[in-house]
Amino acid sequence: MKPKVFISRPIPPEVEHYLAEHCEIRKWEGDEPITRAQLLASLSDVEGLLTADRSINQELLDHAPKLKVVSNISVGYNNFDLEAMKARGVLGTNTSAVLNDTVADLIFALMLDVARRVSELDRYVKAGKWKRGDGQNLFGLDVHHKKLGIIGMGEIGEAVAHRGQFGFGMQVLYHNRSRKPEAEARLGAVYCTLDELLKEADFIVLITPLTPETRKLIGAREFALMKPTAVFVNASRGATVDEQALTAALQNRQIYGAGLDVFEKEPIDPDHPLLKLPNVVTLPHIGSATDQTRRQMAMRAAENLVAALEGRTPPSLVKELRPDAPDQNSNR
Ligand code: DGY
Repeated sequence: MKPKVFISRPIPPEVEHYLAEHCEIRKWEGDEPITRAQLLASLSDVEGLLTADRSINQELLDHAPKLKVVSNISVGYNNFDLEAMKARGVLGTNTSAVLNDTVADLIFALMLDVARRVSELDRYVKAGKWKRGDGQNLFGLDVHHKKLGIIGMGEIGEAVAHRGQFGFGMQVLYHNRSRKPEAEARLGAVYCTLDELLKEADFIVLITPLTPETRKLIGAREFALMKPTAVFVNASRGATVDEQALTAALQNRQIYGAGLDVFEKEPIDPDHPLLKLPNVVTLPHIGSATDQTRRQMAMRAAENLVAALEGRTPPSLVKELRPDAPDQNSNR
């Protein structure tokens, strides 16, 4: 008998076809995203769940007594209550690797946009404000040959460093929980403390996972350390930044500008003060959002699910839930 799985969000037909070969699938077919109550009510007999950002906590596990694996269609897995999953022996997987270049491209788009004021000046031209005599009022900042500071040197961080080093001749600084000697050698990246990076970098890219240690990692103290010409880009999770402190730093021109793909609350409230500022470029969490990459992510998630249900190690089992993972409290 094939294992039962529940798919809580739309996936491409080829991925559904692959899953149907291995599993008995049931999927959410509503036009609106599935509600929490509907999700909980769908899990009583399933062994696998394919989802994205839904909270996988004790409450959900209690509604899913047969659950063996939760497969996220995202690289981030801050929606997993790792301790509760570990205690119940439920595996969790993500879509590492397949989205690195796509997210790194988007990070560069934000850096370039803020530095050269692309979105702001697009609005300027379209509003009919471009006039003879415009000059310095249109100036921005160079990106090439500047210092790029990457906070979170995972696979995406390395893809950003690669672009900076080989595409734009930038000097790469990084801060990470552990040093990456191989990346240092390959990318010429220089390891720094967080404070050194914040003081020295011209472009500060935050791409760390959201964990208890990285929640509000960047706040008023950290913005105060940055150069007044610094460009800050967040493509991790909104909660890694104190949004009030970021808003104040931008309003007071304590930093030059920010490019944001993620927010504390998504979708962001349309009245949020960040949206009123000219020196901020905002995106609706589209880091990995290309057709090709989203297809690859969905397929990777399906492969993870099937592998786990067949008793194999999934290609992207999250590290905290690997059999050899140290105790989570000592791992962080
Ligand atoms: C992820 O997959 O976690 C990214 O945030 C997608 O943009």
